Amino acid sequence: MRLQQSSGTLLFLLLIIVELLAVVIAGRDFYKILGVPKNANLNQIKKAYRKLAKELHPDKNQDNPESNEKFQDLAAAYEVLSDPEKRKTYDRSGEEGVKKMHEGFGGGGHDPFSSFFGDFFGGGGGHGDEDEMPRGADINVDLFVSLEEVYNGNFIEVKRRKSVYKETSGTRKCNCRHEMRTQQLGQGRFQMFQVQVCDECPNVKLVTETKTLNVEIEVGADDGLAINFVGEGEPHVEGEPGDLQFNLRVEKHKIFERKGLDLYTNVTISLQQALNGFKTEITHLDGHTVEVIRDKITWPGARIRKKDEGMPSLSDNNVRGILYITFDIEFPRGELSEEDKQAVAALLKQDDIKPKTYNGLQGY
Ligand SMILES: *[C@@H]1O[C@H](CO)[C@@H](O)[C@H](O)[C@H]1NC(C)=O
Repeated sequence: MRLQQSSGTLLFLLLIIVELLAVVIAGRDFYKILGVPKNANLNQIKKAYRKLAKELHPDKNQDNPESNEKFQDLAAAYEVLSDPEKRKTYDRSGEEGVKKMHEGFGGGGHDPFSSFFGDFFGGGGGHGDEDEMPRGADINVDLFVSLEEVYNGNFIEVKRRKSVYKETSGTRKCNCRHEMRTQQLGQGRFQMFQVQVCDECPNVKLVTETKTLNVEIEVGADDGLAINFVGEGEPHVEGEPGDLQFNLRVEKHKIFERKGLDLYTNVTISLQQALNGFKTEITHLDGHTVEVIRDKITWPGARIRKKDEGMPSLSDNNVRGILYITFDIEFPRGELSEEDKQAVAALLKQDDIKPKTYNGLQGY
């Protein structure tokens, strides 16, 4: 009895060890690290990564030494899962497989953050207050997106051909400044004069690089929103490059018009539908349908409100505006028969209502 029990414990311990070993061999679970399902699409991965990276960024967690490690895990997970080829390898043979296939994986190489985050991290503190470090010019570009894209969120890849300074052979004068010198001309007589002094720096040449920027169109973003990429502007030979700023321009939509969080649309119905009621569907910006059912009479200009069918708020995607649907009525053309005229009169009973002449301004 005793023996059985202890061998059971032994087996249990053994199992734990085997399990631990398996974890070590299999490498990290990148899906778990990002908190996305195995079949997550690229947008989900990018979104999860961006959210976690904001939370875990070492700049924000200086008092928590563990966070740096988590941040590294996250960066590795993103590097692999955001690259279709690496992801395939990873799915087949784990982190070890990716390492073998791509030597230098995780070794720094390109920094996935640089193109992803723009100014979301740190960057802000830098500009302006430093002692007038020269900067290249800022660039402002309009980025046109559809209303669907700001309703659903999207990632847009922007290829940027930009000039960068690269070191080349030789040296050049740099950091030139004026300094005052004094020269003694004789007893108690000095002359002051200005000289230009420079340092010797490595020579540079301007080369063109193509870089892909990953611009996130956040759910609920509105026209005019600025998306900033620190250091992606024009280079400066002795300083840092300027910034690149995208200004969001939401294109006019065929069906919906946006005002703040609210959406507006028009529906034209027939006179028959206006009188007898009707049922129709509006296809929303993510493809879901909004049902419109009327039993009562609908008059020209009548407006109904659909709560929570407006735009999602940028700061809280669960908050949504209102969809206003305004109706106009398409009347039949031509002329009714005498019989039909009498039928309409019998139906509507409006003999007492006389045409009213007015100036078109309501309330007068
Ligand atoms: C709806 O109709 C009104 C009046 O014709 C117009 O001013 C408005 O732009 C229309 N809205 C949309 C979303 O088409």
